[in-house]
Amino acid sequence: MLILNKTAGVFSKPSKRKIYEFLRSFNFHPGKQFLHKLVLGIETSCDDTAAAVVDETGNVLGEAIHSQTEVHLKTGGIIPPVAQQLHRENIQRIVQEALFASQVSPSELSAIATTVKPGLALSLGVGLSFSLQLVDQLKKPFIPIHHMEAHALTIRLTNKVEFPFLVLLISGGHCLLALVRGVSDFLLLGKSLDIAPGDMLDKVARRLSLIKHPECSTMSGGKAIEHLAKQGNKLHFDLKPPMQRAKNCDFSFSGLQHILDRIIMQKEKEEGIEKGQILSSAADIAAAVQHTTACHIAKRTHRAILFCKQRGLLCQSNAVLVVSGGVASNLYIRKALEIVTNATQCTLLCPPPKLCTDNGIMIAWNGIERLRAGLGILHDTEGIRYEPKCPLGVDISKEVGEAAIKVPRLKMKI
Ligand code: KG4
Ligand code: ZN
Repeated sequence: MLILNKTAGVFSKPSKRKIYEFLRSFNFHPGKQFLHKLVLGIETSCDDTAAAVVDETGNVLGEAIHSQTEVHLKTGGIIPPVAQQLHRENIQRIVQEALFASQVSPSELSAIATTVKPGLALSLGVGLSFSLQLVDQLKKPFIPIHHMEAHALTIRLTNKVEFPFLVLLISGGHCLLALVRGVSDFLLLGKSLDIAPGDMLDKVARRLSLIKHPECSTMSGGKAIEHLAKQGNKLHFDLKPPMQRAKNCDFSFSGLQHILDRIIMQKEKEEGIEKGQILSSAADIAAAVQHTTACHIAKRTHRAILFCKQRGLLCQSNAVLVVSGGVASNLYIRKALEIVTNATQCTLLCPPPKLCTDNGIMIAWNGIERLRAGLGILHDTEGIRYEPKCPLGVDISKEVGEAAIKVPRLKMKI
């Protein structure tokens, strides 16, 4: 049974006529034989409407994406009904563009894979209802995708990475450390107890009014902080990394955000400026918050590596740490993580930036991984539902905390 969430609009499916018209638009016969499995991936879990066609060997045959970032930047954050409306307006065009670019006709697809969890209810609903119509018309198997699993496995499309490996997902909506043991076999080692690092950086950037800064006006909050930090002195503010006493792999960023709120208010008083104007110390604040964020993330990741090695969950030498998500594009944070991987004889891998953020390719690739492993392929979509909240794998974060591993101090000379 579908979730009966009227506001989510799950049942305001596109009309049958619209879907027929959509399918009729693919009247070409490419005349080429596809020897490999082909999956159409559809992603609408947050504020990107994305689709892609990927084959079994990892070739991306076609892709399209519509980002809502610009709209949400103006309103200072994602307003779910606005995101839902934009997904509705764009989903058909985006799927059509991805299929046209791939030169694959819908009848040649092996399956359709769509993000169904976790994410914004209103956004997930649009992708799911569109996909179910398509699956129904085409009589194709449906593969429901867990958004975080898709992020975690993307690296296997670009690099030869065998299981098990460690993954750190850091973005505006995600913050977790997990051990990936198989296509649908994950151990959750730690997660943020409050907000994600990208969310915190976005809030600090907004509080600093960086959108008014001539060099940062088109950048996301996190990117603006990275940009300004290069001009600042991180030592001008003494920020302590969060949760230093908790010997686990969980994260916390809201305390840091509140400390920065107070610092900014104090500085506004000192500099005699109004809220909304740019502080002369903005670059120093950016450098300090970026450094503290990097140290916090590096320390928790270091502990996760040590825990996994101690328990024989990762090999002693040559273990792989994959870092993904929007915040993973921050070079300062990457360098902090490199210090950790060098000290622990691990290899640090990051997917290319466009695959770090939300996209349709990772969903299609997860569909391919699942097809190959024979996992979670549905021939009957009765009972399929979206799940706004859904943990990743088996949560062993308590066990990690009980192990209370002391992490050796590393010099964060970045
Ligand atoms: O993965 P993503 O595109 O969307 C989700 O949040 O799921 O990540 C966007 C987040 C935003 O919070 C943005 O401020 C942050 O990633 N971000 C960065 C950088 N570029 C984007 N954070 C730090 N440094 C960056 N260079
Ligand atoms: Zn994501």
